[in-house]
Amino acid sequence: MDEKIYFFDTTLRDGEQVPGCQLNTVEKIQVAQTLDSLGVDIIEAGFPISSPGDFNSVVEISKVVTRPTICALTRAVKKDIEVAAEALQYAKYPRIHTGIGTSYYHIHYKLNSNPEDIIKRAVEAVKFAKKFVEDVEFYAEDAGRTENEYLARVIEAVIAAGATVLNIPDTTGYTLPDEFATKIRYLKENVKHIDKAIISTHCHNDLGMATANTISGVLNGARQVEVTINGIGERAGNTSLEEVAMILKSRQKELHLTSGIKTNKIYKTSRLVSSLMNMPVQPNKAIVGRNAFAHSSGIHQDGVLKNRENYEIIDPKDVGVKESSIVLTARSGRAALKHRLDILGYKLEKAELDKVYLQFLDLADKKKEIKDEDLEVLMGSFKREDRHIKLELLQVICGKSSVPTATVKVRMNGDVLSASATGNGPIDAAFTAVKHLTKRKVHLEEFLIQAITQGSDDLGKVHVQVKNRDKLYYGFSANTDIITASVEAFLDALSKIV
Ligand code: KIV
Ligand code: ZN
Repeated sequence: MDEKIYFFDTTLRDGEQVPGCQLNTVEKIQVAQTLDSLGVDIIEAGFPISSPGDFNSVVEISKVVTRPTICALTRAVKKDIEVAAEALQYAKYPRIHTGIGTSYYHIHYKLNSNPEDIIKRAVEAVKFAKKFVEDVEFYAEDAGRTENEYLARVIEAVIAAGATVLNIPDTTGYTLPDEFATKIRYLKENVKHIDKAIISTHCHNDLGMATANTISGVLNGARQVEVTINGIGERAGNTSLEEVAMILKSRQKELHLTSGIKTNKIYKTSRLVSSLMNMPVQPNKAIVGRNAFAHSSGIHQDGVLKNRENYEIIDPKDVGVKESSIVLTARSGRAALKHRLDILGYKLEKAELDKVYLQFLDLADKKKEIKDEDLEVLMGSFKREDRHIKLELLQVICGKSSVPTATVKVRMNGDVLSASATGNGPIDAAFTAVKHLTKRKVHLEEFLIQAITQGSDDLGKVHVQVKNRDKLYYGFSANTDIITASVEAFLDALSKIV
């Protein structure tokens, strides 16, 4: 049977420590609820002694989010622990996360102490926290740079004091994956009663090794991972939730490990956190970056179109992304161009495609990325696959002191139909008439008119997007008469609805 890895999310504590990422209580509740539906097991909701805002957020999250454990951070200080316990009073499953620095640097330069005193303070903190809650997690801050033998002594002492979870943070992101593996294995093999508690990883990304270290920890016996959405956190950040969740999912057969994360909610959660925290996701970020499922080189595009798995190890739908994207650039080949033109409704013979491809390359050398509207302009001289709705006549009355009225005649499946309507402008009137004729239930999602050059005799390009039964349909047209272009673009979109 696959063993479960517990996901401890610290987006609202370590993530929120990032300058500029602070959230108010309402936003924190929204994030906590989203983390709940994502399936995380423990939410670290804040550091209650640090500010009244943090205290309040832990209180409010505890009231509203009841499935996962709600955790509050403290130092190994009695007052911190009392305040955390008070903030957690409404939590269904409360956890206090207390701890102290254990590395040479922390003991001597930060805490001005000595190794024996640190063990004493760690034990006292755990015992004190146990007076309030059963579930007490202990962190040995800077465990990554703590000598293994000493770390084992600290951990053994806090287990005896009642710690239920043992957090082994690589606070400075310094450890190599192999060293971290050895550290966790050392604890597993040398600490008395280690099986009474769960070992947790908490890795920072200063050298880009947070996820690798976390996985090393898990492979050597850790059963809880401390992570954040999009990997946000102090300095270079924490281990990304999405990376660990997808490693476990994609390599489940080999690792025999599983988690409660509903991976198809990852993308939505990533975007929520990014927008609330004003923290953009880097485009090449694994799993959730804009380019994580975008293919741009010709060889890759061809390979993906033949079989997605040629170049994708994750199905984008598994993380909540609708589909992979083929980005058309100067490096794209004919296969990618043909694929996109097919979607837009242009079925080209080989010779036609060759011709358009040359024009495409010419344009792609001037523009970084070729979008659908560029292709539509490029295809101006080619006949689109026959649309079954065609504009036969359009007459509008508009201008100052008149009620905008439009009469539209269309040919649809061989019949010629006409209707008139009024609206708040000539385009609105014409669209209403078209809707009467086509009897399509559509919602206009986007309507954009652009001039190609700048004169009043300019050609107007119109892009529309309509929604029908949750599906979007795109329409385009270009004409010196922008009302005609608008109606044609609208009909173009409607024609695509089967
Ligand atoms: O990085 C760290 O060591 C921490 C502890 C407070 C758990 O965030
Ligand atoms: Zn941390």
